[in-house]
Amino acid sequence: MSQHVLTEFGERLARIELARPEKKNALTAEMYQALSDALERAESDPAVRAVLVHGRPDCFSSGNDLKDFLTRPPDHGDAPAFRFLERIATARKPLVAAVGGAAVGIGTTMLLHCDLVYAAPSARFQLPFVPLGLVPEAASSLLLPALMGYQRAAELLLLGRPFGADVAFAAGLVTEVVPEERLIDHARAAALALAALPPTSVRLCKELMKRRHAGAVAERMAEEGRLFKERLASADAREALTAFFEKRTPRFSGDS
Ligand code: COA
Repeated sequence: MSQHVLTEFGERLARIELARPEKKNALTAEMYQALSDALERAESDPAVRAVLVHGRPDCFSSGNDLKDFLTRPPDHGDAPAFRFLERIATARKPLVAAVGGAAVGIGTTMLLHCDLVYAAPSARFQLPFVPLGLVPEAASSLLLPALMGYQRAAELLLLGRPFGADVAFAAGLVTEVVPEERLIDHARAAALALAALPPTSVRLCKELMKRRHAGAVAERMAEEGRLFKERLASADAREALTAFFEKRTPRFSGDS
């Protein structure tokens, strides 16, 4: 349970809302757990035919809570963050995401495992794993180059700079760019349209499309997870995380 993840199980549609606006929807261990629980419930409830994930129209998620990274890092494979990634990557029901404002770290990588992604022009994606002294997660080191080509993915993953909805759309990460005031309604309408289709055909179609990468995704997520835990304990990562809260530029020693 988390007060920062709101769920609504309506007719055919499960709605999951990230609701921690005071921290830009940064995800804590409790929130990952609540997200996993909601996805699991959606998967096992035969009445649910599609899942909608959103934050506020002007803020999706600023990624993993950086304080959690410092004080209670996901240092084992069973950590809530890893379990959430595994669950979203293996979801069988269709997932629709509505993204506006910040979509940082896992706020971007989770989208690689959604089926329809709608973004407002305000969406600001970022994959700052390397600048934080970490490595990519959610099989993004595999899926992003496959999606957009190596050089474009390398710029986003190595430099880790923010990019807008136009870039995300051109790269194939986003289905459609939608005005912020219509974002959630538009995504909900798409999710309801999916929910009205024959569920077995939807499930089989998704599975067929995902099959090409399924084994490789699981393997890459395990490898990334191992390296991620290792890097999180490094001096450079601690420096980057400390610098964020001290609002200063980090100084990397390169020490492992
Ligand atoms: N973890 C913990 N706290 C976070 C956070 C995160 N990922 N992102 C934002 N916050 C907190 C800030 O510390 C601030 O808290 P405070 O009001 O107690 O000082 C509050 O949320 C608002 O954030 P702020 O940075 O003032 O908002 P902004 O609009 O200027 O910038 C972001 C928004 C998302 C660009 C910026 O907060 C950011 O870069 N966050 C870190 C993103 C990140 O590196 N995520 C991890 C990826 S692996």
